Amino acid sequence: MERFYPDELIEEVRISNDIINVVGEYIQLKRKGKGYFGLCPFHNEKTPSFYVDQLKQLYYCFGCGNGGSVIQFIMAVENLDYIEAIRLLADKAKIILPEGEDGEHKEIAKKKIELIKINVEAARFFYERLNDTQNSTVKGYLKERGVSENISRKFGIGYSSTGGDALYKYLKSKRYDDDILLESGLILKSKQNTCYDRFRGRIMFPIFDLRGNVLGFGGRILDNSQPKYMNSPETLVYNKRKHLYALNFAKNSSHKTIIVVEGYMDVISLFQYGITNAVASLGTALTDSQGRLLKKYTEEIIIAYDADTAGMNAAMRGLDLLNNLGCNVKVLQIPEGKDPDEFIKKKGPGEFNTLVNKALSLVDYKIKALKNEIDTNNTDEKVIFLNKAADLLSKMDNDMEREMYIKKIAKEYEISQESIFAEVLKRIKPRMGFKPVAVNVEGKGKIKWSKDKGQFERHVNNERILLSLLSIDNSLYKLVKDKVTPEYFEDEDNKKLAKIVFERLEKNKGIVPAELINLAEGKVSNIFVRLIQGECNFDDNIKAIMDIIKKTDLFKLEKREKEILDLLSSLTNKKEETDSLKLELQKILYKKKSI
Ligand code: GTP
Ligand code: MN
Repeated sequence: MERFYPDELIEEVRISNDIINVVGEYIQLKRKGKGYFGLCPFHNEKTPSFYVDQLKQLYYCFGCGNGGSVIQFIMAVENLDYIEAIRLLADKAKIILPEGEDGEHKEIAKKKIELIKINVEAARFFYERLNDTQNSTVKGYLKERGVSENISRKFGIGYSSTGGDALYKYLKSKRYDDDILLESGLILKSKQNTCYDRFRGRIMFPIFDLRGNVLGFGGRILDNSQPKYMNSPETLVYNKRKHLYALNFAKNSSHKTIIVVEGYMDVISLFQYGITNAVASLGTALTDSQGRLLKKYTEEIIIAYDADTAGMNAAMRGLDLLNNLGCNVKVLQIPEGKDPDEFIKKKGPGEFNTLVNKALSLVDYKIKALKNEIDTNNTDEKVIFLNKAADLLSKMDNDMEREMYIKKIAKEYEISQESIFAEVLKRIKPRMGFKPVAVNVEGKGKIKWSKDKGQFERHVNNERILLSLLSIDNSLYKLVKDKVTPEYFEDEDNKKLAKIVFERLEKNKGIVPAELINLAEGKVSNIFVRLIQGECNFDDNIKAIMDIIKKTDLFKLEKREKEILDLLSSLTNKKEETDSLKLELQKILYKKKSI
């Protein structure tokens, strides 16, 4: 792992970003006892096993084993490397990172602010053009589509005039350089090197981020010419794969669900009828980042795409994507050929809400799609149907829900419950979930000296407590280093960890619990989380670590004692050796007493 910031600075960045706040920006956390729980952003789950500890500033998922400090969290969730994660966190905490690479980084931050300012200016400009008294055609268009003045203002809808460079001139009057204007994507350069407006003669929909900054625009043409929509290009501030149209409104809506629709106009139309919890993806298929954003703000997502084939395919993809992120997701089906905008205008919000309530769950929707593909009256096809349905059902993680579906399908398609069950069972692999108690701590065949496995387990646990305590309170190292070395550890995994921990502390580099958990592999890291969360909450860490050292010393002595006794019983004839062993045994007994 490359680090080119000093360790103290990294530590400052880490400490300045409270893990609860940072994680809370990505997922909903609920307080439970001493910690916080939420749905893991790294694997598919419906009951929270993602744990965040404020005191120790670490997170850990009991389901998928992902864990670490706020830095590892940002790396994983934003898909960044170490340095990038530090930068992001430094930005959040307003910590200025040193010059060099970061001079450039600071430039970028400045530029982003500038781009947002330009977008805000442009939004105002477009808004005023729409509300110019002369502009009755455009206003008429919106009126005809049923967009009220109120909603138009709320969404900041504007108009880009047909002139060609009205916005450019306006922004120049505000003294922006051509370079930054071109970078904003609002202005283009012709072959003759003159600047002109990207958006001309279009209804302008500003795209806001969650804090209400204008990041870019979607522009709809008023007639039937092509392209119908033109959107801001990717810029330093706008990424169509990362934002969702109107999420800034939907997240504050009192509804428990969020409805995902295809078009800007769908969002606006629904809003007007009091359905204030709709968002639109920005002209692309739903992405993982958008899914994670949604998951943070809602417990249930309803996909309400157009009823055409493209819409249905997109719904199926969105369904899988969101389900894989662990979202509760349903599909709302709009009767023939209509999009939400058309539907609600014709039928009103009451009927739309009926559709919401009738939205199909993932399994229902997929079974229904299967049924459309397969003729269940034909026996051969019925078998195919049964197999595919069993595939679906075996992937469900809730047994009760599964049973409910099995009953339903059995009844509906006249298949016996038993045969569906049998097919499903064949497909369910043994679950690999986290089992907090049933931890197998074998000494890797190294315990022939002792028949007392329990004693060895206790010792391995004490070694882990020692390492945990060191990570919780680095200052304990000075008490430990003269008495214990990594070689001293009996368990091979612990020995490896001890080497790293001791080396770090020797060099004054520090180690935090979250790092220790990361360094430990597989199940062992689960054990460390349990220890750090629970058993290592001592009132007096110094007393605790001294106690652990004593216990491990005692264990070592008893181990040697047993070895000697074994040897003595086999070496009956060799007097010299026996004598020295007996002497050693005396010493051990003496030492044991002194502990
Ligand atoms: P109306 O036709 O006015 O009802 O608009 P709409 O918002 O319902 O759009 P539609 O359902 O046709 O398309 C859904 C979304 O896809 C739009 O909101 C745009 O984000 C995007 N989109 C549609 N047409 C185009 C296009 O021609 N170019 C681009 N880049 N995006 C488009
Ligand atoms: Mn539409």
